[in-house]
Amino acid sequence: MSVIILGIESSCDDTSAAIIQDGVLLSNVMAGQDVHREYGGVVPELASRAHQQNIVPVVDMAIRKAGIDKKDIDAIAFTRGPGLLGSLFVGVFFAKGFALARDVKLIDVNHLHGHLLANFIRHKDVDRPVPEFPFLNLTVSGGHTQIVLVKDYFDFQLLGQTIDDAAGEAFDKAAKIMGLGYPGGPVIDRLAQQGNPQAFHFPMPKIQGVNFSFSGLKTSFLYLVRDRQAEDPDFIENNKVDLCASFQKVIIDFLLAKLRRAVRETGIKQVAIGGGVAANSELRRRLQEMADKEGWKAFIPERKYTTDNAAMIATTGYYKYLKGEFVGQDVVPLARWKV
Ligand code: KG4
Ligand code: ZN
Repeated sequence: MSVIILGIESSCDDTSAAIIQDGVLLSNVMAGQDVHREYGGVVPELASRAHQQNIVPVVDMAIRKAGIDKKDIDAIAFTRGPGLLGSLFVGVFFAKGFALARDVKLIDVNHLHGHLLANFIRHKDVDRPVPEFPFLNLTVSGGHTQIVLVKDYFDFQLLGQTIDDAAGEAFDKAAKIMGLGYPGGPVIDRLAQQGNPQAFHFPMPKIQGVNFSFSGLKTSFLYLVRDRQAEDPDFIENNKVDLCASFQKVIIDFLLAKLRRAVRETGIKQVAIGGGVAANSELRRRLQEMADKEGWKAFIPERKYTTDNAAMIATTGYYKYLKGEFVGQDVVPLARWKV
C-alpha cells in the first residue's frame, strides 16, 4: 500500500511544504521571508503574516512538483512546536482545515524531532548512507543547541544543551553588531572564507559536561569591536572578514570540542549534525576532518535540509504514520515542546 504525506513547516520564518511517498521525497518547496532583514531578527507578527500569504501557494507548488493530485494525500504532518506561536498557528490551522476538508489523518511533529531525522530524508534512486542507531546528533539552529543520543526514530536522550543563547543566535548577533543584516550565519560563513581565523582571539566558553553557552562569547565580541572602534572608527569595515573568520572559528572549536567529549563519554562514533548552523561550510568541513581523524562516521545532511524545511517534517511524519500516531482536530500549537 502506498502512503502519501504532505508535510508543513512554519515554526519560524520559513514557510515550507513537502510531499513524501512511502518515505521517498517527491518535492520540497520553501519560501523565505525577506521582511526581517532590515530589523536584524525575526519580527513575530510579520512572520505570521508572511506565512499566511505563503502557505497556500507553497503547498500548491509542492503538490504540483510532486506530480500528484490533492486527493492522493493520505495524511498531513505539520510542525506543532516549538517555535513562534503566531507562525505555528498558520501551519497548524492550515493542516487542520486540510485534514477536515479532505478527511485525512493529522500527524503532529516536533520541529526538533524533524532536525534529528534530517539525515533520513530519502530521494528516489539516490543511495545516501543513513546513520545506524544509536547515533549522536548535534542540533545547532537559531533556537537550539544540543547534543542528543538518538536510540531509535522515537527514543532520544538529551546529553547536553545550551544554557543561554543558541549557536545560530551567536552568529546572528555578531552579524548584527557588524551591520551585516539577518540572518547573519550565511553572511559570516561567506565572508569568513576570505578571512584569517587567527586574527582575533575569543576565549572558548567554559561550561560543564556537554552543555553550551554562547552569551559570553557574544559579549566578548561586542566589547572587542567597541574598544577597537574607539581607536579606529573604520575598524569593522577594515577587519570584517577577519572578525567573521575568528568568531566563526571559536564557535566551531567549541561545538566540536563538546561533540568529541560526547563521543568519548558514550563510546558512540556515529555522529550527525542538523539545524541551520549545520549549513556552515567550515563546520561541515571540520566535522568531516575530525571524523576522519578520530575514526567516526559523520552524517551531514544536504544544506537545504539543515535549515528549516518541510522535507524533515514529512519524513518524521512518515515514521509516525507507520506507528499509527495521529492527533485529532483539538490539537493546538506549542511554543515550547521538548523532543
Ligand atoms: O534551523 P534554522 O533554519 O531555524 C531554527 O530552527 O532556528 O536555523 C536558523 C539559524 C540562523 O541563526 C542562521 O543564522 C543560521 O541558522 N545559519 C547559519 C548558516 N546558515 C544558517 N549559521 C552559520 N553558517 C551558515 N551557513
Ligand atoms: Zn529549525
